[in-house]
Amino acid sequence: MPHTNGTNNVNGASKPKPQYEPDFTSNVIKATGPKANPRVAQVVGSLIQHLHDFARDVDLTVDEWMMGVNMINRAGQMSNERRNEGQLLCDVIGLESLVDEITNKQLVGADYEATKTAILGPFFRHDTPPTKNDSSIIKTMPKDGEVTYMHGVIRDAATNEPLKGITVDIWQCSTNGLYEQQDPDQAEFNLRGKLTTDENGYYGLYCLRPVPYPVPYDGPAGELLKLLDRHPYRPAHIHIIAGSDKYTPLTTQIFDKTSKYLADDSVFAVKDDLVVDFVPVESNEKASLELTYNIKLAKIVE
Ligand code: BEZ
Ligand code: FE
Repeated sequence: MPHTNGTNNVNGASKPKPQYEPDFTSNVIKATGPKANPRVAQVVGSLIQHLHDFARDVDLTVDEWMMGVNMINRAGQMSNERRNEGQLLCDVIGLESLVDEITNKQLVGADYEATKTAILGPFFRHDTPPTKNDSSIIKTMPKDGEVTYMHGVIRDAATNEPLKGITVDIWQCSTNGLYEQQDPDQAEFNLRGKLTTDENGYYGLYCLRPVPYPVPYDGPAGELLKLLDRHPYRPAHIHIIAGSDKYTPLTTQIFDKTSKYLADDSVFAVKDDLVVDFVPVESNEKASLELTYNIKLAKIVE
């Protein structure tokens, strides 16, 4: 059957929808050889089908396709260990958040609830040195920083038992909206900690109250945001990865309930369960705010 989806012609004229070669897409998919890995054949086959359907649906022209190709090329050219523009492009169209949801629905058992996940984002560092419980991750104190005592207990999602020896990576940007690797004025590993829970499942540290910030918008992801008449801001958040060899690493973010942009995060990562309360404290001479955040992890099924 030829593809005949109505009359939404690119020029706005009421011309009938063009009829495209009916067997073209199936011939492209059928070119995959018998030795291709079955999952690769499934994923790429479906990608080809959807991309071809999309191109026919919008009657994509060569100029428009080339604009997209140039965008992807420029994203690659400007990427390095400090900047991942390809990932950022995926983030602003919601793809990292969607894939995060799909991956975690497959990992977590149905009969208990682990803490909700959120996207990793491009600013995680694998090499953060170990941090002692109850120490501060603030190495460069900004003038307008509000120190927060953040702490909690990590438990097994199925049994509620507190978990010892869980590694907790925490990172955040400073009040200028920049992560340390983006900002030569911040000390290396500023606002990054890698803690380990004690025998009571406890972790605790001193950090800053987070602030909203824009994702980098001086590249193709920023161009796309502008083309779509969207802003680049994320609500104030702190990133967390918690896990061990026995517990599925949980990647998430927690969001300040008073922050702007909770309802229109530029990368679509906010979930109601991840919105938290920074509470004023007077009894702690090292901090003016306290944040209690308990985490539930899913055991890795052997
Ligand atoms: C972040 O939260 O660090 C982030 C997430 C997605 C894109 C850019 C930044
Ligand atoms: Fe972030």
